[in-house]
Amino acid sequence: MMKRTHGCGDLRIEHDGQTAVLAGWVNTFRDQGKGLVFIDLRDRSGISQIVFDLEDCDDETVETARSLRREDVVAVRGLVRPREGKANEKLATGSIEIMGQAVEVLNRTDNPPILPDDHEAEKISEEVRLTYRYIDLRRPRMQEIMRIRHDLARITREYFDQQGFLEIETPLLIKSTPEGARDFIVPSRIYPGQWYALPQSPQIFKQILMVSGCDRYLQICKCLRDEDPRADRQAEFTQIDLELSFVDRDEVLDIMEGFMREVFNRILKEDLGDIPKMPWSEAMDRYGSDRPDLRFDLELQDISEIAGRTDFRVFTEALAKEDGVVKAIRVPGAADSFSRKITDGYAEIAKMHGAGGLPTVKYTANGFETGIAKFLGDIGDDLVSALGLEHGDAVLFAADTRELANTSLGAVRLQVARDQDLIPAGVYRALWVVDFPMFKWDEDNKRWASEHHPFTAPRADQLEILESDPGGCLSDGYDFVVNGSEAGGGSIRIHNPEVQKKVFSLLNLSDEEAKMKFGFLLDALRFGAPPHGGIAFGLDRLVMLLAGTDNIRDVIAFPKTQNGGDLMSQAPGPVDDAQLEELQLEVVEQPDT
Ligand code: AMO
Repeated sequence: MMKRTHGCGDLRIEHDGQTAVLAGWVNTFRDQGKGLVFIDLRDRSGISQIVFDLEDCDDETVETARSLRREDVVAVRGLVRPREGKANEKLATGSIEIMGQAVEVLNRTDNPPILPDDHEAEKISEEVRLTYRYIDLRRPRMQEIMRIRHDLARITREYFDQQGFLEIETPLLIKSTPEGARDFIVPSRIYPGQWYALPQSPQIFKQILMVSGCDRYLQICKCLRDEDPRADRQAEFTQIDLELSFVDRDEVLDIMEGFMREVFNRILKEDLGDIPKMPWSEAMDRYGSDRPDLRFDLELQDISEIAGRTDFRVFTEALAKEDGVVKAIRVPGAADSFSRKITDGYAEIAKMHGAGGLPTVKYTANGFETGIAKFLGDIGDDLVSALGLEHGDAVLFAADTRELANTSLGAVRLQVARDQDLIPAGVYRALWVVDFPMFKWDEDNKRWASEHHPFTAPRADQLEILESDPGGCLSDGYDFVVNGSEAGGGSIRIHNPEVQKKVFSLLNLSDEEAKMKFGFLLDALRFGAPPHGGIAFGLDRLVMLLAGTDNIRDVIAFPKTQNGGDLMSQAPGPVDDAQLEELQLEVVEQPDT
């Protein structure tokens, strides 16, 4: 095999006159029939144009060059020279070409089912791309994303090493750690009928490492949660997992903010600017979301006081509810574009989030029009001044309990921003969401559930109301949010076994259950647990932000589909009867329901 001297993306005009050997995949092939054969050769570093002038080549080279097809793997030796004709501005190597002297076929390809062409990728179904993932990953865009992923992992290790963190691995076969999702479970051969769980995160282990005096822990680790994949969620994903001892919340946030600034600076040359700390209640009230997208305004405004002065039933009935509110979003200049069809679409979104509907109105030179205009009566002027309305604006309302009004209008806000093109490209707006409630009420099961996870500490000044007013008790948890995506989440932990027990009991876990599930944590907390806290960033979500994609499958080399399958390897699949027998397992057919 000819020995490679350069990458296909490395050659420049300063290499003029040098002999180079390149190896890679035939990206395109043109035999113009005029004695010239052109191939674009591609490898991870880029693409070079190679020209075979058949008159200057020996017969074997001519024959081989003419036989090449897209995606064959070849090595080529040739002379670098300035490109004949116009330089190709789109290619880094666009000012040169290589006069091919020899070509060696390293491997032929079968007729490829797809081509690794970024321009074509959108047109090919994702199913086909995932089935032939090895070809799809050859695309320059995919190679770029894998590079960003690598850079993020490298910067992570460098940054936290400088901050005194140790990278420590934690086990994959563990006892179930509840983080709110379903566990993947693994049968034990040695203890038939007993099961390991795959970690939803290393949460308990990293806390125990603090009890062990490790002080500062880092791990880039796989987490496994048996939940349905979504655009930004995979059952198997990667966390940058961190834990620190002897710290308070703001020390953790400072170190983590430094990390995020370093990442965005080094990978995107972006300064994250001011990173506000926003209480959860403010995020919900102003943006209707615990991960607000700050790249655009469209804030939710509370107009309950004004709305209370109409006799419009939707408003009055909402205000009569406990914690009932009327909220509104002003959409500047949208009166013309808000057709009935569009506002009906927004109403559907609001309903999907539990709202009864989505009253709307337009404000034009003729005053309020359409929708609920006729109900506004005397409050029109107050509404104009409260919302700062200008002619041509549209207004969307939510009238319900505070929680439902916020979340439904928050979801509508995002869709309106997309439709109205209000989301600027290439802009990154980060914030910390802090002061989360400790618990949320689980109406289905009629009990409290953790807002973060059961190891999250109440804020020190809230400890006294932990038991008397669990719903009002705030935690020392925090989320790092960028452009509306929850990039990371963590908390100061409970390090006192008594407080931990109280939280378990508020979560309706009996002493026995708590002991069975987390006995080892409760034990560890009794043997000198330092105050500690930490966070986990979603590595895949960060790469999505850095690479500018909305699809988590783009940033994972071998992702799962929406149905949790791997189309390339065909996982999950059956196993041999012998394997089942060894595990003393039997597949029982489900009776038809
Ligand atoms: P949490 O569950 O919030 O916290 O996860 C931390 C971060 O991981 C990312 N993430 C996901 N990314 C892709 N697919 C998923 N299914 C998925 N689930 C979560 C998010 C999220 O912010 N042990 C705690 C952390 C801690 O308290 O230190 C934990 O796992 O970006």
